Amino acid sequence: MKNELTNDILKVLYTEEQLNERVRELGAEIAERFAGRQPLFVGILKGSVLFLADLIRACPLRCDLEMMAVSSYGNATASSGRVRINHDLQQDIRGRDLILVEDILDSGNTLCFLKDYLKAKGAASITIVTLLDKPSGRQKAVNADYVGFTVPDAFVVGYGLDYAQFYRNLPYIGILKPEVYEKS
Ligand code: XMP
Ligand code: MG
Repeated sequence: MKNELTNDILKVLYTEEQLNERVRELGAEIAERFAGRQPLFVGILKGSVLFLADLIRACPLRCDLEMMAVSSYGNATASSGRVRINHDLQQDIRGRDLILVEDILDSGNTLCFLKDYLKAKGAASITIVTLLDKPSGRQKAVNADYVGFTVPDAFVVGYGLDYAQFYRNLPYIGILKPEVYEKS
């Protein structure tokens, strides 16, 4: 269906149905791995919210939830390399098994910083779950334990991922037309 959002999409990479199926698979794998434990999900705002909401519903564990907000990008489509915490944890995480939930692992700057930060706060373990992995963008040696999909070297939006804060509400993931960010 054409509308003012979908007009800017070059190509749909993952449909709503594909996302749904993959997130359910990830949820089942994580639930099996953490059975009998009480992990703490830590969602990274804002990009992970749609994924996180679906993932925890696919994960029938006795778990709790925290959100962190970090920024490294501004409105550009390339990482600045600097990471700043805009919203921090609201509880002591010493001895906890953390499941860090991210929308996309690109340069690795965000997750590299967060892993060190959360380790220093005393987490017992840190498991990284990312919906998307873009290995071509990597600048830091960081890998995810669970990856939804590996994406090509293109700027992707939808299902939580934004360009300049827009497109998060697309129910699918698509590649943004380059002219959208080239003109701004
Ligand atoms: P890094 O480079 O730190 O990236 O691994 C993590 C954050 O960068 C954003 N990012 C993207 N956002 N489409 C987006 O909408 C992309 O292709 C993209 N690549 C990186 C994202 O916010 C992620 O949390
Ligand atoms: Mg983001």
